[in-house]
Amino acid sequence: MTSKVFDLRRKIKRLETLIDTSMVFSGILDIDELLDTVMQKAEEVMEAEASSVFRIDEKRKDLYFITARGEKGKEAKEIRVPMGKGIVGWVAEHGKPLLVPDVRKDRRWFRGVDEKTKWVTRSILAVPLIVKGKVIGVAEVLNKKGDRKFDKGDLELFAALGNQIAIAVENASLYSDLDKLFLSSIRAIVEAVDAKDPYTRGHSGRVVEYALQIGHALTGNKDRLKEIEISAILHDVGKIGIPDKILGKPGRLTRREQKYMERHPEFSAAIVEPIELLKKLRKNILHHHERIDGTGYPNGLLGNRIPLVARIICIADAFDAMTTDRPYRKRKSMRTALRELKRHSGSQFDERLVDIFVTEFANNDFR
Ligand SMILES: [Fe+2]
Repeated sequence: MTSKVFDLRRKIKRLETLIDTSMVFSGILDIDELLDTVMQKAEEVMEAEASSVFRIDEKRKDLYFITARGEKGKEAKEIRVPMGKGIVGWVAEHGKPLLVPDVRKDRRWFRGVDEKTKWVTRSILAVPLIVKGKVIGVAEVLNKKGDRKFDKGDLELFAALGNQIAIAVENASLYSDLDKLFLSSIRAIVEAVDAKDPYTRGHSGRVVEYALQIGHALTGNKDRLKEIEISAILHDVGKIGIPDKILGKPGRLTRREQKYMERHPEFSAAIVEPIELLKKLRKNILHHHERIDGTGYPNGLLGNRIPLVARIICIADAFDAMTTDRPYRKRKSMRTALRELKRHSGSQFDERLVDIFVTEFANNDFR
């Protein structure tokens, strides 16, 4: 009776893990983060010492780690396993789960990974990751804790988890393809706008690079960095609405022309506004010519009222403008441009962000 109750409890706990992980799955699109969370749960419930997820590389006919948890995870990540080799290679090739209670007694066992990582594998439970009938990878847990062995129950649960992992891996890679396509499309549009004016060719791309230098120093958050990247790409897209005779004018602009030119952030904002995915970037783009002292345009916002991303783009934009030739003046050297940024730090530019940019520039020397 007691053992039945115990069994039931175990089953409930396992079921809870499955439900829990499906909830995790629906919320996270970053594949590394997602797999780490899911495999941590898998280890917990199966009382394993480590776990990994492999993806098949169709071209190279081998498998590479996309997640490797446990003491030697970092070392393991560098290694690739040939198709058909070892337990993982066998599972990938046959598309069937495999329970190996003692690896020393299994001829399929490939000690290459252990030799390289100095990890000692005792037992393995590995399941194929199958999407629409095709094996795309393998997930495994290693070494049941306390010198015990993985059992059939573990195998069943892990196979069920494998289905969800497979879908998540597939979704994440579809999402990443879509994301790349989206980014390259807007880059192409912006490059076309930049090309309208021979003096600003490549401008947006460089602004992205500079803005991300500051961004990386501020945060590791991928969504925030993506926000910086896309805002920076699009900050001048509204120049498409500025007549060529103003954009490409070889001399100084008249007051009226200047006033018209200063409307480009509004045009940029108006372009992104109707696009649902880009809506929240509107303020970053609209305010990229505001000044900390409140004398910028279009709204004369003061200090921290200017969105952080707009303050970042402002520095990146000014730096690129100074270091490239313009119709009415030659470019400044990088060093002079950095000095200029410092000179206007606290009035035109955010002091802290200028400090970060100057430091990053000195460290990376990205020319
Ligand atoms: Fe601008």
